[in-house]
Order: sequence, then structure tokens, then C-alpha cells
Amino acid sequence: MSAYSALLEKMYNTPQTWLVTGSAGFIGSNLVETLLKHGQTVRGLDNFSTGHRKNLELVREAVPSAAWSEFTQIEGDIRDLSTCAAACAGVDRVLHEAALGSVPRSIEDPITSNASNVDGFLNMLVAAREAGVKSFVYAASSSTYGDEPTLPKREDRIGKPLSPYAVTKLVNELYAEVFASAYGFKTIGLRYFNIFGERQDPEGAYAAVIPIWFAAVLRGEQVYINGDGETSRDFCFIDNCVQANLLAAMTENPAALNRVYNVAVGERTSLNELFEMLRAEAARYNPAAAKVSAEHRDFRAGDVRHSLADISLARQYFGYEPEYSITRGLARCSGWYAKYL
Ligand SMILES: NC(=O)c1ccc[n+]([C@@H]2O[C@H](COP(=O)([O-])OP(=O)(O)OC[C@H]3O[C@@H](n4cnc5c(N)ncnc54)[C@H](O)[C@@H]3O)[C@@H](O)[C@H]2O)c1
Repeated sequence: MSAYSALLEKMYNTPQTWLVTGSAGFIGSNLVETLLKHGQTVRGLDNFSTGHRKNLELVREAVPSAAWSEFTQIEGDIRDLSTCAAACAGVDRVLHEAALGSVPRSIEDPITSNASNVDGFLNMLVAAREAGVKSFVYAASSSTYGDEPTLPKREDRIGKPLSPYAVTKLVNELYAEVFASAYGFKTIGLRYFNIFGERQDPEGAYAAVIPIWFAAVLRGEQVYINGDGETSRDFCFIDNCVQANLLAAMTENPAALNRVYNVAVGERTSLNELFEMLRAEAARYNPAAAKVSAEHRDFRAGDVRHSLADISLARQYFGYEPEYSITRGLARCSGWYAKYL
């Protein structure tokens, strides 16, 4: 039995209270769903800036009604310390996902990204420490590798940030480290690498590549590839990300604390390959998708050229074993996209 299966089984018998920030977002709502399905009490905190009430509606439909009764949602902003303090009161474990994602958004408006991602993060650290939570796991980012060219990316070797967003995520890691040294409050950061899956938003100027392209090819519309298409990413299905969060939050290995970990699959896919995969997947639902073409345009500012993770640290410290390759992940979520787009 994998460490994750054993943990899920154990969680049924040990209900605890969790705070998931960013609960109405893509990753947060998936965390809420899995926690509720495994007998946990969950509090969500979100200001609905990029998240959607519809995501929580879909969680309600996906879990048994008894499980849903264990969920409460706070509509509030992590930029407000008293909101964070109220949300953390009486909570065992925190999964901190709330932030403004997207490199281009942060280039357009660094002040707003900084306020949620840095001020909000610091508020959450202060509130969680004062509430005496048992564990605090936060969403870091592969953007922290910046201009470091070495592949695969190893946690201890980072370059200079290439965007305001990357700066905010690096600052999160610095604050987390200082909270361990100054206050003995130890956290775990998870550097996500291009997470994709059900409930990821395909709309808006700052949407991620997989939902944008899935939506386009399903509708039979042309896709735009930034650059030559040989830019590559380590695309990671949402269930792998949920697994990493729960293993990290529940780890009983003291040496696992006060570290950051890559959360990815350890496989690299170019944008050109991704486009082919999505077209084939979408054609299962709409035959017209097979004829969709891609047009190349300029490279996008702030983008890293290649990304591939070494995931051995998370494997070693808390038994992370991604169950979904990109192909398996796309096959799982394509039905969802076909239904909801
Ligand atoms: N999706 C990815 O591939 C990826 C990669 C690296 C890091 N991350 C990080 O993972 C986390 C979750 O990302 P996601 O993809 O689910 O994005 P998302 O936009 O779907 O979710 C973020 C949620 O946080 C909420 N939020 C934002 N600012 C807030 C504030 N000030 N107060 C309260 N709530 C606020 C939003 O309304 C949204 O529901 C973020 O921290 C993001 O930076 C995501």
C-alpha cells in the first residue's frame, strides 16, 4: 500500500479541522473535496477574486451530504489580519492556497499581486502561529527557479526571479524560513509545477495553458502558441498535488518540516506535444477538434524556457508518488471539460 493510500485510510479514523485558503479556486476546491470525502471538517477562506462559487457548488455535488455538512465557507480577504485570525481559530491544519496566480497578471499589476501574495501570506503565517496550528502547508511555485537553467530543477538550486509573481513566491519561502528560525513555527512549502485538472478556470486573460487550449479545441477554435512551441513544462495533474498536500500536512517526520518540495511528475512535455495531446483528447468529444490548427506568436515576457522537476525530495521525506502522468491526467479531466465548457 502506498503512503498516500495508508494516510487516506487513517484520516477516516482521525477527523480534524482544516483551513483551506483559496477554497473557491482550482487547487483549493479540490483539496476541500478530498478532505471532506475522507471524514474531515473543513473551513474555507476565499475573497472570490479569481475563485468561483460554482466550484464550491460542484464540490457539494461531489461529496455525500453528511460530508458537506462538515464544510463552512468564510468570505474574506487574507490581506486583513483579523480575518486570518478568525479563520485560524480552532483549526488543526492549514493548507494555504490563496494568492493571485499568473506571471502576466503580476507584470501588469505587481502591487495587487504583492498585496495578496506577500502581505496576505505574512498575515496567514502570523495568524496560524498564534492559533497554534499543528501544521501549515503553503503553495510555493516553480517560478522560484527563475533563470536557473539546470534541469531537472532541484530544490536547493534556484536562480533570480523573472517576474513580480516569482518574487512574491520566493518571499513566501523566505518568510517561512524566518518563522522557523525566529519563532520555531515550522511550515512546508510545495513548489507546484503547472498543475492542471477539473475546475481550473479556462476564462480570462490570465488563465493557464491547458484549460485555455482545451476550451478552444473543444469548440473547434484556433490555438495560439507563444514562441516556437519547444518551451517545455512538467505538467502535473491535480490529484498528485492533493496527494502532496495531505502527505506534507500529516507527516510525522520532523525532518520533513521547514523545507520546500517540488510537486510535479518528473516528465517534460513541450507546448507542441501538449497541443497534439489536447487535440487528440478533445476529438473524442468533438470530431472537429482534430482539424484545429495552432498559430505561433511571440514568446511571452517572464516565461521560463524549460521546466522539469526532480521530485526525489518529496518522495524521500513524505512518500510522495505521483499517480498521474500527463496523459492519464488529461484522460481523467477531459470529460469534465467537455461537460462544463
Ligand atoms: N495552478 C498552478 O499551476 C500553480 C502553480 C504554481 C503555484 N500555484 C499556486 O497555487 C495556489 C492556488 O492556485 P490556483 O491555480 O488554484 O489558482 P486560483 O486562482 O484558482 O485559486 C486561488 C484562490 O485564492 C483566492 N484569493 C486570491 N487572493 C485572495 C485574497 N486576498 N484573499 C482571499 N482569497 C484570495 C481566489 O479567489 C481563488 O479562489 C496559488 O497560491 C498559486 O500561486 C498554482
